[in-house]
Amino acid sequence: MARLSFLSLLAFTALGVAQAGPLVAQNPLITQDAPVRTMQGWSWKDCGLPDDVVQVQSIVVSPDPPQPGQNLTVTVKATATETVEEGASADVTVKLGLVKLLSKSFDLCDEARNANVSVQCPIEKGDYEVTHIVALPNEIPRAKFSVSAQGYTVDDENLFCVNLQVDFMKNPFPKFGW
Ligand SMILES: *[C@@H]1O[C@H](CO)[C@@H](O)[C@H](O)[C@H]1NC(C)=O
Ligand SMILES: *[C@@H]1O[C@H](CO)[C@@H](O)[C@H](O)[C@H]1NC(C)=O
Repeated sequence: MARLSFLSLLAFTALGVAQAGPLVAQNPLITQDAPVRTMQGWSWKDCGLPDDVVQVQSIVVSPDPPQPGQNLTVTVKATATETVEEGASADVTVKLGLVKLLSKSFDLCDEARNANVSVQCPIEKGDYEVTHIVALPNEIPRAKFSVSAQGYTVDDENLFCVNLQVDFMKNPFPKFGW
């Protein structure tokens, strides 16, 4: 249970804009290159299209790489190029290795309301930054998780797309065991 709730939190965190707060004095950062972050332990990739309503700029975690049993602070920066209306959704799939653990559609505006965040639908055009703290249970399997999230507007247009991978086998602390 703890594992699934961590995973859904992780997945939801990746959705970014639903939990976004206004980003003050941030320069527009839209580039043609998809932002890609690759490092031992975890990585993320923007699998969205250049005309997606929400452009994910960056995902930063601390500590890096994530450690089971510690709080993980996740900061997502994203730009909404159009208003995100009530009814936006996201299909989220979480896999442990090759095994699908979760495949679920989330109502983004409902999730934002439930998470009591500062920005609520409709989300206006603009740059957003969200910081979310996730308590990572110690019992997380030492294995590779992948999370993919494809967002849709209420009109079923592409909203955003993010793929995340976290490999807890890369944990530098040697004291865990299967
Ligand atoms: C995680 O954060 C909570 C709330 O801020 C705090 O009570 C807890 O001690 C933290 N856990 C760790 C392992 O730092
Ligand atoms: C939601 O936010 C309000 C205002 O910040 C706060 O008073 C309330 O306790 C929060 N509720 C939950 C469930 O976090």
